[in-house]
Amino acid sequence: MPEPILEIKDLSVYFYTYAGVVKAIEKVSFDVYRGETLALVGETGCGKSVTSRAITKLIESPGKIVSGQVIYHRNDGSTIDLLKLNEEEIREIRGNEIAYIFQDPHSSLDPLYTIGYQIAESMEVHGRIKNIKEGIPKVISILREVLLPDPERRVKNYPHELSGGMKQRVVIGTGIANNPKILIADEPTTALDVTVQAQILELLNELKRKYNATVILITHNLGVVAETAQRVIVMYAGKVAEIGTVEQIFKNPLHPYTKGLLKAVPNPMIKVERLEAIPGTVPNLITPPGGCRFHPRCPFAKEICRKKVPELKEIEDGHFVACHLY
Ligand SMILES: Nc1ncnc2c1ncn2[C@@H]1O[C@H](COP(=O)(O)OP(=O)(O)OP(=O)(O)O)[C@@H](O)[C@H]1O
Ligand code: SF4
Ligand SMILES: [Mg+2]
Repeated sequence: MPEPILEIKDLSVYFYTYAGVVKAIEKVSFDVYRGETLALVGETGCGKSVTSRAITKLIESPGKIVSGQVIYHRNDGSTIDLLKLNEEEIREIRGNEIAYIFQDPHSSLDPLYTIGYQIAESMEVHGRIKNIKEGIPKVISILREVLLPDPERRVKNYPHELSGGMKQRVVIGTGIANNPKILIADEPTTALDVTVQAQILELLNELKRKYNATVILITHNLGVVAETAQRVIVMYAGKVAEIGTVEQIFKNPLHPYTKGLLKAVPNPMIKVERLEAIPGTVPNLITPPGGCRFHPRCPFAKEICRKKVPELKEIEDGHFVACHLY
């Protein structure tokens, strides 16, 4: 039996904007298994980033986590609900046990400090090193691990002195500096060109193996999913549509939305911005459609789809779908 490291239960996040309450994610539930790479996929705006950020309460105003639990299973067997921690306690977890790698390396790095200083600082904050000066040899070894060329010299560089791919290696270095148990990578390669993308993914895979980490990978790119993940969560309009192994999702997709996603990408390396195979766009989440949120775009919609929210049901071992067809 796979052992969960995270259990996300009924997680809802709303944004209280002037235009109205954006129900960004609603009752999202799924487990993350220890040691796996779990991919989160879906069109733009479906709630992937909000879900991953809410795991460590990284939701800023006007956003609010309105319900849910995130049960974290520590290595020693104890469990805690991360959403119950106060700001100081969650900060200790964030960056230390659960680290993020964001899409845009430019905004993840501070232009005013050298990259060596920035990695060392994150290690000092979590007590991995006594002070920044003494930590520099450790930083250099991390830069070597993320395959940054000439780390002894680069450690003194400022972000603007590095290429995009190099910056993303530094951001990954900051991510792994404290040996996290869970690495959340939100579109870590989108801002990079294709050959650099492949190198960064290879690096992530390698580090995951080496550190025995669990990875949550958010991506638009279904080719990346097939190559790097073991399981997939498909999200639509702030809800989980389908969960399964890579094989279940790619060979036997159940949800009409998942089928559309796959049909829209005969070449899985293409980024999915919009589903050409299914007309329409993601609904506005201030007044989402009632019942199944996909019903205005679904070719199989029935009467019940407009009225009743479909529950997530297990159809075969580990393969869940939220759809009234099943
Ligand atoms: N600060 C905010 N204020 C208002 N609404 C927000 C805010 N941040 C996110 N949202 C809304 O939450 C929903 C989910 O957004 P999220 O960023 O999680 O999507 P995503 O799946 O990560 O999309 P992408 O693939 O484009 O990164 C969207 O409808 C978005 O408009
Ligand atoms: S519940 Fe109905 S509308 Fe929603 S995906 Fe299934 S068939 Fe389509
Ligand atoms: Mg996002």
